[in-house]
Amino acid sequence: MKSFYPSLFVLLILFSLSCSRDKEKDKVRIGFSQAMTNDDWRRSMNDAMQLQASLDSNIDLIIRDANYDVEKQIKQIEGLIADSLDVLIVSPIQSKPITPVVQNALNAGIPVLVVDRKTEGQNYTAYLGADNIEVGRNAAKEIISSNTRDSIRLIEIRGLAGSSPAEERGMGFQQIINQFSKARIVATIEGNWEKESIQDQLIILLKKGIKVDYIFAHNDRMAIGAWEVAHDLGLEKEIDFIGVDGLPGPNGGIQAVKNGVLKATVLYPTGGDEAIKLALKILDKESISKNNILSTTIINEVNADIMNNQFEKINEQQAEIEDQLKAIKEQEVLYSSQNNLLKISIALLCIILSLTIYSIYSIFAIRKKNRQLELTNNKITIQRNQIVKIAEEVKMSNEAKLNFFTGLSHEFKTPITLILSSIESISEVAREKGSTMMNEVELIYNNSNRLLRLINQLLDFRKIEDRKFNLKASKTNLFAFSKNIFKDFEREAKKRNINYKLSSNNETLDVFIDRNLMDKVYFNLLSNAFKFTPDNGKIKIQIEDNVSGNVVRISFEDSGIGIPTNEIDEVFQAFFKGSNNRKNSSGIGLHLSKEFVEMHKGKIEVQSVHGTKFTVTLYKGQAHFDEAEIITEQDLVDTKIIDFTSEHLVDDNYLIEAPNKGKEKYSILIIEDNRDLSIFLKNKLQLEYEIHLSDGTDVLEKAFEVIPDIILCDINLPDKNGFEICEILKKDLRTSHIPTIILTALDNKESYLQGLQSGADLYLTKPFSYSILVQSIKSLLYNREKLRYYYTSNIHRIEPTDAFGNMEQQFVNNLNSLIKKNLGDSDFSVENLAEDLHISRVQLYRKVKAMMGISISDYIANIRLAKAKSLIETTSLTIAEVAYETGFSTPNYFSTAFKNSYGTSPGTYRKSVS
Ligand code: FRU
Repeated sequence: MKSFYPSLFVLLILFSLSCSRDKEKDKVRIGFSQAMTNDDWRRSMNDAMQLQASLDSNIDLIIRDANYDVEKQIKQIEGLIADSLDVLIVSPIQSKPITPVVQNALNAGIPVLVVDRKTEGQNYTAYLGADNIEVGRNAAKEIISSNTRDSIRLIEIRGLAGSSPAEERGMGFQQIINQFSKARIVATIEGNWEKESIQDQLIILLKKGIKVDYIFAHNDRMAIGAWEVAHDLGLEKEIDFIGVDGLPGPNGGIQAVKNGVLKATVLYPTGGDEAIKLALKILDKESISKNNILSTTIINEVNADIMNNQFEKINEQQAEIEDQLKAIKEQEVLYSSQNNLLKISIALLCIILSLTIYSIYSIFAIRKKNRQLELTNNKITIQRNQIVKIAEEVKMSNEAKLNFFTGLSHEFKTPITLILSSIESISEVAREKGSTMMNEVELIYNNSNRLLRLINQLLDFRKIEDRKFNLKASKTNLFAFSKNIFKDFEREAKKRNINYKLSSNNETLDVFIDRNLMDKVYFNLLSNAFKFTPDNGKIKIQIEDNVSGNVVRISFEDSGIGIPTNEIDEVFQAFFKGSNNRKNSSGIGLHLSKEFVEMHKGKIEVQSVHGTKFTVTLYKGQAHFDEAEIITEQDLVDTKIIDFTSEHLVDDNYLIEAPNKGKEKYSILIIEDNRDLSIFLKNKLQLEYEIHLSDGTDVLEKAFEVIPDIILCDINLPDKNGFEICEILKKDLRTSHIPTIILTALDNKESYLQGLQSGADLYLTKPFSYSILVQSIKSLLYNREKLRYYYTSNIHRIEPTDAFGNMEQQFVNNLNSLIKKNLGDSDFSVENLAEDLHISRVQLYRKVKAMMGISISDYIANIRLAKAKSLIETTSLTIAEVAYETGFSTPNYFSTAFKNSYGTSPGTYRKSVS
């Protein structure tokens, strides 16, 4: 729509322009080849033509001036022919040379009007001009009639030879003169129409003393020139002069007659206006005469005034006409500009009209849209109100929940505090009782402490949200403060062989910190570092005092798993949990740390390239705190309640009772990344079981290497989760038979189902009762035992059964068919069997031992003996034949083995059954 109006406008302008161009096309093109324009007669001819042409706006008059140059005139006519004229008007300088080019114009289909002077022959469309023979005759008649002398002596001054007026005027003049004997032409002067061409010749003649009464010149200019010569010689009163043209105006022939310079002049009209009229007639195909003769007359002292007056009148009228034409022209210009203006106005009007229509349409469209928008708006308002209401309700319910959790957390604090203070007194007794008790006390202490910190975090989060924290900064030695907290993690570092260091470039530096809050920051950053740093890793706290500046930086750097680069900006957001973090995390610790540091006007930053580095920057001095935020506190003291660092407590492998050595024990693989819990379970269970531990990073290697009797597996583990591990082990032939117990804090239905789907045999949720765990292990082992009994007591009839899972059934089937196939081959070894089953000899041994309770070689031997027993019962083969048939290398070895197994020799057995 936008581009529509300008294009409409352009169209209208083009339309108006094209109209004016059409008019141009209709114009009549008249070309006029003028012989010369250096005299008044020619100028008057041109003026008359132009005036006549200007009366008709359709005429386009093109005038070319040959300036007395015949060649030039020919070229100009050729040019006009090429310019596709409608009519050509020619006034030839001379007749002969111009005749061919006039013929060319006719040949090109252009009508030719010859004026004033003629071409040779009659090859033109029409001729216009006065009858020059008549002009000559009139001049002679005037001389004769006005003269009373007895004899008249004449000089004839001729026009340019070769031009028709000169020839014809001379001819007409002589015709009359010759009729009168008293008149005699005494001399002839050849001129070229201009006075300069005759004056010298006339001087010579007159100076010779030739007596002259009358001089006839072919035009007024030469006649006046002759008078000038006579005047100079003082003869002007004795000679009369007569010319041709009879032009009005101060230099014209009429004025010369009036002045007495000329006796008379013969009117020779230019016919300029007539020529244009005739040209139009030719174009309009009107019938015209070939020769159009203009009238001529004698002007002498009798009629000079009248003629002059008439010419003046004519001139006045012409001037008037010219004025009117000028006025018309101006009107035309005005009209054309007004016309254009009108067109533009119409175009603009159209545009305005279209715009108005469009605007009206737009107004309606906008109104419609507005109504729709209003409706949508109303809907949105209603929805927003609903959302606000729901949000309000959610907020209230959240508030209620949070209040509930906060209340509950507060409730937890008291019992935990009681537990912690009780531990203090119990630790005294435990210390006397020995290491076993002390270790359990430490476990209770550490975990109660952890619980207390977690609950405090929850309460702090609520407090931060409600902006209820009041900072209480006190002057604190930063290194001593850091050292105190550093020590709390030293034992764990030692146990896990972590390179754990604290360093400072200024151990005497005091800063103003809220010890309680900063303690939480330190604890949080260190707990994270220990949580994500593997055993044998590195954790470093570095205090860097910018001695010349006003800040101190404390960095906590670990060699842990790090934080993915794209998540680094989110670490301090509440509830953030890194995508690579498979551990239990509340996600509020770092958020709180940031809030606490910022309450100190400090900042906390994180970098993670290899491991993670948190840097806390604090201002030195106290100027950045309000007065109300500063308190005075005692210097730091070691606040630890119980010292667990006594040398006899450093070993995790403490024993509650001495393990029952000698007896072959079932093995258990515990997969748990909480070191405390795994050590606790190990120490409790190792009395009865052989315990293997994995923190989840090496679980598959351990499981395939040990092939344990039972697997205890946590869910949230650093590498693969418990479900994935369980699924892999249950699908692998080497471990598929192992009963698996999943131990987890996830107690929802979905997780339980997922556990069962992954193939787990049992799903126990934390906190679990130790005795239930022990009972569960025992009953799983008992079930396994029952199956073993089934296998070992039915060895000879083991057929496909559902007693085991599919994997096991498949395994036993394969095993049995391989043994039966090679029953007669005494060289068939356990290695051959393992190879055929695509597992190692040790794995085969462990798998069979786990499933059947006996070694693989005993299992093969039992099948051989069972087969031999049945052959003795059902066939008449000799004992030796039975021995070879069932793969025994010698009958003697067979007898010994048979007796060992069945308590009787094969021969005795044959007798008892036959
Ligand atoms: C003008 C003129 C006239 C004369 C005519 C003859 O150029 O010389 O004086 O009458 O031409 O063609």
